Amino acid sequence: MAILEVKEVMKSFGGLVAVRDFSLELRKGEILGIIGPNGAGKTTLFNLITGFYKPDKGKIVFRGEDITGIRPHEICKRGLVRTFQITQSFANLTVLENVRIGAHNQIRSSREATEEALRILERVDLYGKREELASVLSIGHRKSLELGKALATKPEVILLDEVVAGLNSREADDMIKRLKMLREEGITILLIEHVMKAIMSLSDRIVVIHYGEKIAEGKPVEISKDPRVIEAYLGEEYVLAKSQ
Ligand SMILES: Nc1ncnc2c1ncn2[C@@H]1O[C@H](COP(=O)(O)OP(=O)(O)OP(=O)(O)O)[C@@H](O)[C@H]1O
Ligand SMILES: [Mg+2]
Repeated sequence: MAILEVKEVMKSFGGLVAVRDFSLELRKGEILGIIGPNGAGKTTLFNLITGFYKPDKGKIVFRGEDITGIRPHEICKRGLVRTFQITQSFANLTVLENVRIGAHNQIRSSREATEEALRILERVDLYGKREELASVLSIGHRKSLELGKALATKPEVILLDEVVAGLNSREADDMIKRLKMLREEGITILLIEHVMKAIMSLSDRIVVIHYGEKIAEGKPVEISKDPRVIEAYLGEEYVLAKSQ
């Protein structure tokens, strides 16, 4: 069953068509990976789904309801949340305060929001950093904080924009484990990522976007062998490295 449907959306910036007649279905409980070259339109797609941009054409349907044109915080209240590729925390607030803001999406009581935020910080391995300012965090911790803030809103569907890119190998493995755990808990995930290890090990299916259009869709093994995907994105080096 599709929990999220993107139907023939289109978005232009001036003369540039960033996303063109793009459709996808996200099934409940799956991890759907999105890959494509820099500038392909991946982040724009997230901006369209989560209400940061309004599509020029097309529709976004979440749990059977048309949410096209609804504001981001309203969409978040309904259970659909995203993280930002360029991390967007309040720099002069602490880690805990940043996550508490997310928790207030569903919780009114201040004490309960703090308790929830602390629980989330444990899950993303930032409990020890809870009193530090977001501005002093390393890139790895910033990405964990992005995930924490999103989780604190109690989402049903979470859109992750490059939460593994930029992490060192150990941090990347930790993040991959966390995302697997989220799927086991029933959270549905749409995952933009350039780190192939993460995309290939996490995704149930992968959609490939190139110049704003979908050029392929399928299981990771199918995608990694697709000549169009190799030409547009993966490159022969990837295929050679895999076969060695
Ligand atoms: N607000 C904007 N105004 C004008 N052009 C934009 C805007 N946002 C995105 N673009 C353009 O739209 C195209 C798609 O950008 P987008 O950020 O969606 O790519 P992406 O696939 O996320 O790339 P990356 O892998 O580098 O993050 C690019 O050519 C980009 O320059
Ligand atoms: Mg992007």
